[in-house]
Formats: sequence, structure tokens, C-alpha cells
Amino acid sequence: MYIVFLGAPGAGKGTQAARIAKELVAEHIATGDLFRQAIEAGNDLGKKVNKYMVKGALVPDEITVGLIMERLAVLAQTRAIFDGFPRNLEQAKALDGALDKQNKAIDRVVYIRVAEDELVRRLSKRWICRNCQTPYGPDIPSRDGNRCDRCDGQLYQRPDDQPETVRKRLKVYFSETAPLIEYYRQQEKLLEVDGSGSVDSVANNIISALGERQFIAQ
Ligand code: AP5
Repeated sequence: MYIVFLGAPGAGKGTQAARIAKELVAEHIATGDLFRQAIEAGNDLGKKVNKYMVKGALVPDEITVGLIMERLAVLAQTRAIFDGFPRNLEQAKALDGALDKQNKAIDRVVYIRVAEDELVRRLSKRWICRNCQTPYGPDIPSRDGNRCDRCDGQLYQRPDDQPETVRKRLKVYFSETAPLIEYYRQQEKLLEVDGSGSVDSVANNIISALGERQFIAQ
């Protein structure tokens, strides 16, 4: 089963995808996390993508699609959750085409809907782990405040969470990514979930919408 998590910056895609992937024993593929890890490693990919990310712009499709194709070729699980990909129609079509060649397809698209003022509130107060990318915020604090509960990595504020860059990212989201809602609705794959409740209640709604409760690892 292949699932796409769609939503604006700050909607909770990363938080929910990590959790649902664990519950469904699926691979969590997050392009933003992969890019940030490459930047941390100081490798060629990191050098290429950093200039786009700090500005809140999309990384060019040839880089992003190439990265996803590499991941698809070595998928360890039969289930995968794509978080932050696809981000525009070209990427969606590239993903459909690549899966089609393997006689596979995107099964479900979870669109997490959150009001804009709440997105801005969450992003202005987000801290993430430099090592494993786990996000924290005022409603989901880490125990220590400076270190990650999961791996003890150092927490930091993403450079693209500065207010001006958040405004740019939201603009990019509404012009380039939001059209995918209609794209997947027309394919009858869209599951719309209210993302404004607690992390537990949103996770519960996603599992119910997916109809996958029977598959959850005990
Ligand atoms: P990416 O890392 O994908 O960022 P994003 O899509 O803007 O999403 P965010 O990570 O900001 O938010 P999220 O929805 O994951 O929310 P989170 O769970 O963290 O991409 C970054 C950049 O990489 C892009 O701008 C682009 O440059 C590049 N890029 C990535 N993919 C690309 C692609 N496909 N093509 C081209 N370029 C690409 O939660 C947010 C905060 O809210 C956290 O603090 C969290 O603790 C909190 N929170 C979560 N849920 C709740 C809740 N229910 N209640 C209260 N607080 C909550």
C-alpha cells in the first residue's frame, strides 16, 4: 500500500506520517527530512538543495524526483508513506508513472487540513532534532527542552521557519501543491482529515479514514 500525506507547511504531516508508518509497519519517505540530512552531512545533494530551502522555494523536480526514484528502487517494506512528496502536478505524474511501471499505484492520499493562523503558530514555535528530524512544539514538548526524546539529538529551529520564509512557503503551497487536492480527489483517492485536534485524535482519525485499523501492529 502506498499512501501520500498532503497538507500545508505545519499541518502535521511529519508528526503523523512518522507515527502512522510505525503503526502500519510502513516506510516513511520524507523529502524534506532527506534534504535536511544531506545538508547536515554537507554532501553534494545538501549543497544543491540548501539554496532553495532557505528561501522557501521548491527544490527543482529533477533533483527531487530522482531522489524518490532511488528510494523506490530499494524499498524495504511493501507499504510506504510519502510525506512532502509529490509537491506539484509534475511530481505527482512522475510518481504515478514510476509506480505504474511496477504495476503499482498510490492507494490513498491523506489531506491534513489546518487553518492558516494555526499553521503559522505551530511553525513559529517548532524545534526539530538535528539527528532524527523529530519535531517538537509547545503542544508536544520534548522532556529536556534542548534534546530529542527519541535519540538525544540536539534540537534546533529550522532556518525556513522564520516568519518571512513561512509566508513564502505558504504561498508556494497554495499555488503549486494545493492543486494536488483536486488531482487526487478526481482519482477518488483523497481522504480529508481535520488536523486541528490533538496529535492522538488526528492520528486516530487518519487510521479510521484509511480503514487500516486491522493492520496495526500490536
Ligand atoms: P518539508 O520538510 O516537507 O516541509 P513542509 O512541507 O513545509 O512541512 P513541515 O515540515 O513544515 O510541516 P509538517 O506538515 O511536516 O508539520 P510537523 O509535523 O513538522 O520541506 C521543506 C523544504 O524542502 C521545502 O520548502 C522545499 O524547499 C523542500 N522540499 C521538500 N519536499 C520537496 C518536494 N517534494 N519538492 C520540492 N522541494 C521539496 O508539525 C509542525 C509543528 O506542529 C511541530 O512543532 C509539531 O510538533 C506541531 N504539531 C503537529 N501536529 C500537531 C497537533 N495536532 N497539535 C498541535 N501541534 C502539532
